[in-house]
Amino acid sequence: MGASELPEWARLNRAHWDEKVPVHVASEFYDLSPLRAGEGRLYPIEESELPAVAPEGWSGLRVLHLQCHFGADTLVLAQRGAEVVGLDFSMPAVRQARELATELELDDRSRFVCADLYDARHALPDPGGFDVVYTTWGTIGWLPDVAEWARIVAWFLKPGGRLYFADGHPAGWIFDDAPSDAPAAALDGGPARFPVAAYPYFATEPFAEDDDRDYADPEASIAASRTMEWMHTVGDTVTALIDAGLRIDFVHEHDSVPFRMFEVLEQRADGMWAWPQTAWLPLGLSIAATLPEE
Ligand SMILES: C[S@@+](CC[C@H](N)C(=O)[O-])C[C@H]1O[C@@H](n2cnc3c(N)ncnc32)[C@H](O)[C@@H]1O
Repeated sequence: MGASELPEWARLNRAHWDEKVPVHVASEFYDLSPLRAGEGRLYPIEESELPAVAPEGWSGLRVLHLQCHFGADTLVLAQRGAEVVGLDFSMPAVRQARELATELELDDRSRFVCADLYDARHALPDPGGFDVVYTTWGTIGWLPDVAEWARIVAWFLKPGGRLYFADGHPAGWIFDDAPSDAPAAALDGGPARFPVAAYPYFATEPFAEDDDRDYADPEASIAASRTMEWMHTVGDTVTALIDAGLRIDFVHEHDSVPFRMFEVLEQRADGMWAWPQTAWLPLGLSIAATLPEE
């Protein structure tokens, strides 16, 4: 499909992500040195939860990484022995992922496909082909239809296969940074300039954003700054997975995220960003689910 035939949301969002790829590859945020040293790491939340998803380890597992960006996390799983397929709609991201795979000598265990998530079944006609579908940090908020996303996840899983999902918590996504002239300390013992409510939790229409900032590089200014994003409530996401035939194994809420979701957050020794004092609201959400054998 040519760019002019794409729906507006896909055209805007893809241009945005295409431009972010080189910025991210060059950033400290996406520090590739552990991966290059053969010891790639995921964030602490995934590292603590993944043993439940892959109890026997990753060796020999077929993993589909949806919205894989430029493949850094995909290749961490390949380094651990998985046979991985990464899918992303950004061609610069996919090209970069392929280059990284070659550099890391992981070509034999990795493949990267350029396709919109909603075209995944056509781009990768491998129903029931995967032991694990993996998707983390900044994924379903870019997608209009979470029910269809869940059906796609289920379509790719083998019976007994598992989904692992981690992302910002939608209760956190309703907030935005307070303007710099806002009155300080709205909550007793809370951080000065607590974020302000900005987006309705139950919004069904997309949020049309125009933001040139980049979470991985505070110096960067993204020209393709217009995007369209969606709120998916916890209930909608969990119900979508159940309706798609998956059994929920866990739903975990976290007091930290791997990126600076709000300016008031502080970075902990483990690299995660958390509230300065009291954990006022969940910041992260993770879900594991299994496609039953029968
Ligand atoms: C925040 S990144 C995912 C981050 C990943 N966890 C990482 O840090 O490497 C979001 C990714 O989703 C991709 N994306 C957004 N909308 C998509 C769509 N409709 N189909 C496929 N990929 C999409 C973008 O190209 C981008 O690479």
